[in-house]
Amino acid sequence: MARGLFISFEGIDGVGKSTQVNLLAEHLAESGRQVFCTREPGGTELGDEIRALLLHGKGHVDARAEALLYAADRAQHVALEIEPRLAAGTDVITDRYLDSSVAYQGAGRELGYDEVRALSIFAVKGLLPQLTVLLDLEPATAAARLAGTELDRLESEKIEFFEAVRSGFLTLAKAEPERWLVLDASLPAEEIASLVRLRFASLIH
Ligand code: TYD
Repeated sequence: MARGLFISFEGIDGVGKSTQVNLLAEHLAESGRQVFCTREPGGTELGDEIRALLLHGKGHVDARAEALLYAADRAQHVALEIEPRLAAGTDVITDRYLDSSVAYQGAGRELGYDEVRALSIFAVKGLLPQLTVLLDLEPATAAARLAGTELDRLESEKIEFFEAVRSGFLTLAKAEPERWLVLDASLPAEEIASLVRLRFASLIH
């Protein structure tokens, strides 16, 4: 049986990733494909506990402890949820994956791209998506979209942090253009979704 396709959506907080995950999932299901949607952090029982520690824990979290917790979450996520489904022929769409660690912890927390990437690659035994969609948006616009919602520990970071994270994502996308699709997140959601579908189609033909 053919393996499922693995797609991740990335971007800073407030760019509309979950909307796009849902729109792509609907399209794939309508085309008769088996599809499973998930997210990081979280996606497993252990992951939900790690998510609560990371986003709502009290007190300072050391940057390396943060990177290791995201990596632990991801290891569990791949082993229990992602890899078995891909092996069974189901497409998996995830709201964030290892590039979030490289951008947030590597660039945002300044731990360095290479070390954080190596840590994540260890966690996932080298499993990379066939397609990663970057929804790119200026941090000020993204922050305005989050206004009025309750901000978690990461979302409460300063605009400079998100500038660094955004440029981290763009650097990653530039280095691996065959895996990444970079889209302007200020476009209407339907327009973004149709560009994603177009690129997805090129994966299966
Ligand atoms: P997010 O999916 O944006 O949660 P929500 O949409 O419910 O607020 O993820 C939570 C935060 O975790 C987000 O600010 C990005 C951050 N994050 C990292 O810093 N590193 C990582 O490896 C991942 C997966 C997320």
